[in-house]
Amino acid sequence: MNDISEDDNFPTPQGELTLQTVALPSDANAEGDIFGGWLVSQMDLAGAVTANRLARGRVATVALDSMVFLRPVAVGSVVSCYTTVKDIGRSSMAIVVEVWAQHYSDAECRKVTEGQFTFVAIDENRRTRPVPRTS
Ligand SMILES: CC(C)(COP(=O)(O)OP(=O)(O)OC[C@H]1O[C@@H](n2cnc3c(N)ncnc32)[C@H](O)[C@@H]1OP(=O)(O)O)[C@@H](O)C(=O)NCCC(=O)NCCS
Repeated sequence: MNDISEDDNFPTPQGELTLQTVALPSDANAEGDIFGGWLVSQMDLAGAVTANRLARGRVATVALDSMVFLRPVAVGSVVSCYTTVKDIGRSSMAIVVEVWAQHYSDAECRKVTEGQFTFVAIDENRRTRPVPRTS
């Protein structure tokens, strides 16, 4: 997976491509726009993939900061979630998830939303545990 940098003139996704899927009709409302809740679910999954790797085990989502839906997502779009680790505490991990979408009828891939999730490393009894240090 690639880390992608940003050029001010040509905004590109920030972070690591963590999850990619296609938005299906079952993920949309009657007008064909993808549900915001479906996007949040994909973001939660992507953030958890990164948090699971950092925590080397089970995690729980404890918080989601405010987020804005910038553009609608059409059925058939390829939806890509990019994750960036912002902070690691004792048991918590703050991870920013950007979502970009591209429909085959559009040459451009566009940012559709972004949000910061906080995950907590937990044990088999759902008690918090320290995130392992990598050094
Ligand atoms: C996650 C959970 C085990 C944490 O338990 P807790 O008693 O709140 O634990 P703590 O107060 O010790 O907080 C643990 C960490 O989370 C952080 N945290 C807690 N609430 C937070 C919030 N609203 N925003 C950001 N961080 C938060 C704390 O700062 C702490 O970080 P640190 O260990 O790095 O210092 C518990 O809240 C829980 O089970 N929540 C439900 C999770 C869930 O069902 N998620 C949806 C499905 S995955």
